[in-house]
Amino acid sequence: MPPRKIIIDTDPGQDDAVAILLALASPEEIEVLGITCVAGNVPLDLTSRNARIVCELAGKPDVKVFAGCDRPLGRDLVTAEHVHGKTGLDGPDLPDPSMPLQDGHAVDYIIDTLRAEPAGSVTLCPLGPLTNIATAFEKAPDIVAKVQEIVLMGGGYFEGGNITPTAEFNIYVDPQAADIVFRSGVPLVVMPLDVTHKALVTKPRNDAFRALNTPAGIAVAQMTDFFERFDKEKYGSNGAPLHDPCVTAYLINPDLFTGRHINVEIEVTSELTMGMTVADWWRVTDRAPNAMFMGGIDADGFFALLTERLARL
Ligand code: BDR
Ligand code: CA
Repeated sequence: MPPRKIIIDTDPGQDDAVAILLALASPEEIEVLGITCVAGNVPLDLTSRNARIVCELAGKPDVKVFAGCDRPLGRDLVTAEHVHGKTGLDGPDLPDPSMPLQDGHAVDYIIDTLRAEPAGSVTLCPLGPLTNIATAFEKAPDIVAKVQEIVLMGGGYFEGGNITPTAEFNIYVDPQAADIVFRSGVPLVVMPLDVTHKALVTKPRNDAFRALNTPAGIAVAQMTDFFERFDKEKYGSNGAPLHDPCVTAYLINPDLFTGRHINVEIEVTSELTMGMTVADWWRVTDRAPNAMFMGGIDADGFFALLTERLARL
């Protein structure tokens, strides 16, 4: 099978960085057409800088990186420096990027690429707020039917939220955009907190990254060292959850994940539960399924894959 063509839409973020590294290390399964950046964990100037730092860390300075939307559709930007640090990529000491940002807006790149490629041949992989994707769908409705699939990190149901009691960060930052994407009719695969909170970087797993003794392996270990303090304090967990790499791991080996094809809708009205992914896990409504909503992960298999692929960089 030829590799799957993807656009990674991202707000790096240490876990976004690992997701990008995994994709770039897996050319047999994944062809990264481009990386589009969005404001989220940190403002856009930093996410578009961090994405290029990560491409250079992977030894892939030719990847096309675009800057996109600098704020959500209808709300002020909420950021997460309390998790990711001031730069968004705190932890390792990585050089400023020398590769350029591409000319043009990320939204136009998404539109142009979907129009240029055969229908059903491009998968979108959002790892941050869904502002760029929703803006592209609103600006160019003809592209919606051309998307093969959207595989995204966002939401949570049994696990609740991580930025409010009911909302996960990526969906909370731009619920309006998430609502557009979840109603778009494009087949969705969703990696919610229910999955990603089981993908924990325990000490032995982080030692395995460090033991690769490569720039990428060491940087990932240092990112995790930084990132884990937040989750350890908050949840008393064994290590940091690697949220976003679940998306790129799914593209390589979907059998690592289990879930249900169900209806998922986004709360866009109530201030109390704004951005909640209302998942009909028990199928108690007759609302049509629109998403493969994951709930389980083979965490050992996931970390084995990640370590094996990072070793290639
Ligand atoms: C999501 O929010 C961000 O902080 C992470 O990068 C991930 O995409 C987890 O809620
Ligand atoms: Ca992210």
